[in-house]
Amino acid sequence: TRVEFLDYEAVVDYGWSLDDDELFRKASHADLGPDAHGRLLVHPDESLLEAAERSGFAWPFSCRGGACANCAVYLAEGELSQPTDHIMPEDLAERGFRLSCNGYPLTDELSVVFNVKQRPELDDLIL
Ligand code: FES
Repeated sequence: TRVEFLDYEAVVDYGWSLDDDELFRKASHADLGPDAHGRLLVHPDESLLEAAERSGFAWPFSCRGGACANCAVYLAEGELSQPTDHIMPEDLAERGFRLSCNGYPLTDELSVVFNVKQRPELDDLIL
């Protein structure tokens, strides 16, 4: 699975919105560093977080087991699995929030914003 990623810090810095359809196009035209915006590949049987780490990126995480929300990402395109044993509330999941530590790609392409743990709606989930 090919993943285009974007750091939520850049979204904040530039005053962009997560639900902006043009978000990734804007990111492509901004002068972002390779850690903030780019692409990576997820191998079969790899979680999104594992793939990011193998690719040399330091995305946030803590428990690695679906029990906090430090590893949360926002899914702009594609689908990432959600195991039954996790803390992400249904309403946030419906809005596109997922956990990268135990999320496995279900589509060939994904666009994700990582580092969304600083979003206020995730505050209560961070341990
Ligand atoms: Fe805690 Fe992913 S690191 S849920």
